[in-house]
Amino acid sequence: MKKLLPLLAFGALGLTFSSCIEERIDVGSPETEGFSNALTLEFNSDEFATLSQSLDIDQTITMASVNVPFHIQMTSGISTVDQTSSDARKALLGRVLFYDSRLSATGETTCASCHKQEAAFSDDIAFSNGINGAVTKRNSIALGSVPTFAPVISGYGSSGDEQTAQVDGDVRFFWDERAGTIKEQSEATIQDELEMGKDIHELSSELKELEMYKILTMKAFGTTDLTPDRITLALEKFTSSIVSMNTRFDQMRDEEIFSGVISGNFTASEREGAQLFRSNCSSCHGDEMGKPRINIASNGLDEVYSDKGVGERSGNSWENGIFKVPFLRNVALTGPYMHDGRFNTLREVIDHYSEGIQDHVNLHPNLKGNNNQPRRMNFTEAQKQALIDFLETTTDQSVLVDPRFSDPFRE
Ligand code: HEC
Ligand code: HEC
Repeated sequence: MKKLLPLLAFGALGLTFSSCIEERIDVGSPETEGFSNALTLEFNSDEFATLSQSLDIDQTITMASVNVPFHIQMTSGISTVDQTSSDARKALLGRVLFYDSRLSATGETTCASCHKQEAAFSDDIAFSNGINGAVTKRNSIALGSVPTFAPVISGYGSSGDEQTAQVDGDVRFFWDERAGTIKEQSEATIQDELEMGKDIHELSSELKELEMYKILTMKAFGTTDLTPDRITLALEKFTSSIVSMNTRFDQMRDEEIFSGVISGNFTASEREGAQLFRSNCSSCHGDEMGKPRINIASNGLDEVYSDKGVGERSGNSWENGIFKVPFLRNVALTGPYMHDGRFNTLREVIDHYSEGIQDHVNLHPNLKGNNNQPRRMNFTEAQKQALIDFLETTTDQSVLVDPRFSDPFRE
């Protein structure tokens, strides 16, 4: 219970904050022309006609409402995550930015080139194609669980105009966790010379002049001034609205909690996989497939890492080979796997944990045996398949086809 209390408090706080901020921003913004209309969820017919020249979107913006599975309600005290009107308006601007090739210096990439909706917003190759023939240094990370249930578990304060949404302090972004917020991460990505190579101030000056962005920015922020800060905030609102909580995995957990038994809706193999995951994997990845229990670790991929991960950034040898513990929701769709995309299939991942863990000096104790040597889980064939079957239950099919996350551009 000790652990539950702060979570509950956080959840409640998040909700309170979001409504206060919403009021302050919406009421306090300047009385620009068209401002009163900016606060509604509908574009007027002139606006809609202009937008429709380049975009295929609805005239009315929908606010997302996600039902929180029971097992997550227990730790959060919240039964639905309801997007505020303010967040929905910003997320729409963010969606357009996410798919706009103007964000890259050469027009070659959009955020979606490396975060594809059909692949749960990951890329299907180990290193993504950037601009000017460059490739990324690491494997793209799936965005389907970026919010880390932040609205639920940590009270993701719906940030106002000038604020940065604070994701639960200790959840950070990128494989080496160098970014503290998605805003920070987005700015880094846009300016990264391999990925998009665009100066964010130049980008802001360019986009501000376009009618389409004037309308969308007015709707999102009550002003047409699309500053760098507002660009990254809108991208953050979009990416955090992608929540994967509608899965068979969640149904299985709920059944287990409600009745203590898992029904025949789940195969014997899936049930066995759930048990195996609990005894071998959830000590790091967590039981809820949400926030991991341990944020960063070495899982013993190599004895000597060529990419040192957190150690590369900090220069500390005790952080060599240490990487973010990734979210596993939708994992069946997000291969190739690991920071360098070395494994093409889940089977290869399971083989690694079963018999391939290397004796790296920083190997996490959860993957060591009593003799202080790398653990050998030595799964049988059936157990390996059970783990794969179980991991496949975490796929949220709705995220892959939800029009709120799809490419809004006409051509
Ligand atoms: C050229 C490919 C590419 C493009 C374009 C790209 N990304 Fe990424 N993205 C990556 C890679 C690779 C990583 C992992 C990088 C690392 O950890 O060093 C990543 C990581 C992320 C993460 C961190 C996720 C986590 O859980 O830690 C977020 C969020 C993200 N990208 C969002 C975006 C947004 C928003 C855009 C557009 C502004 C974008 N990306 C454009 C390849 C790309
Ligand atoms: C010591 C903590 C720890 C334990 C225990 C652990 N993992 Fe991991 N897992 C990690 C880390 C860290 C990574 C990322 C490593 C990297 O890329 O260098 C990872 C990566 C993964 C990935 C790749 C995900 C992606 O998007 O690339 C999968 C799948 C995975 N683990 C499944 C499992 C399974 C199944 C088990 C149990 C058999 C397990 N893990 C046990 C820490 C752990």
